[in-house]
Amino acid sequence: MRPQIYDNPDLLALQAARYLTGIARDSVHSSGRFTLALSGGATPRRLYEKLGGAECREKLKWDSIHLFWGDERCVPPDDPGSNYRMARETFIDRVPVPPRNIHRIRGEMKPSEAAALYEKDLKAFFFPDAGESPGIPRFDLILLGLGDDGHTASLFPGASALHEHERWVVACHVDKIKSWRVTLTPRLINAARHILFLVSGRRKARCLKEVLRSSYRPDELPAQAVRPEDGRVTWMVDTEAASLL
Ligand code: 6PG
Repeated sequence: MRPQIYDNPDLLALQAARYLTGIARDSVHSSGRFTLALSGGATPRRLYEKLGGAECREKLKWDSIHLFWGDERCVPPDDPGSNYRMARETFIDRVPVPPRNIHRIRGEMKPSEAAALYEKDLKAFFFPDAGESPGIPRFDLILLGLGDDGHTASLFPGASALHEHERWVVACHVDKIKSWRVTLTPRLINAARHILFLVSGRRKARCLKEVLRSSYRPDELPAQAVRPEDGRVTWMVDTEAASLL
């Protein structure tokens, strides 16, 4: 897997915005909608700011775009740690996406209930007419980050969610950060048409090299569990993150 390498975080964000805009345009053209699962943390902030900026805001057909999250911290939506709040502040409040198109994970709820509700929401959105045995939701694009321990979404090293083969969404307690999270499972992530990893900063260099260049051991490096059946994974990184490749 050869990542696309950009000189600095701003160029990285600009290219990611162009990539996302292209997939959005193609998805809306072919299916009438674009289903996007957002990632959290700090790295995507620049990308989200560009989505809310003039270049992207006018290009995207916001009433056909549906926003989801790949994971969420189990905190209220106005908590500084909320991935929803970060997206709302960086672009959602600046674009005309209809509120009904925003499918947030309810971090304010009990984690297991939030996970069950989100999975129910996904089923209702992707399979509105299905009976008890729907297929599996295929997001047009899932954005993912990379933690310096190899985690992605809220799939952390050693997580039982890495071996979840039925559920699409699970709640997990992350001992390392003493927090509850709700996350998509690898099964759902790997059903996506497109997956974009965004990685920035020297702090990620060692882990990025491990994930991309060392042996397959997803329990230690959960980002390696992202291997879609017939989707496409793209890595966009800056030179700092790529410095050990
Ligand atoms: C989250 C993210 C998480 C993130 C990585 C990298 O909820 O925090 O989904 O997987 O992408 O932890 O975070 P940074 O971009 O802040 O380094």
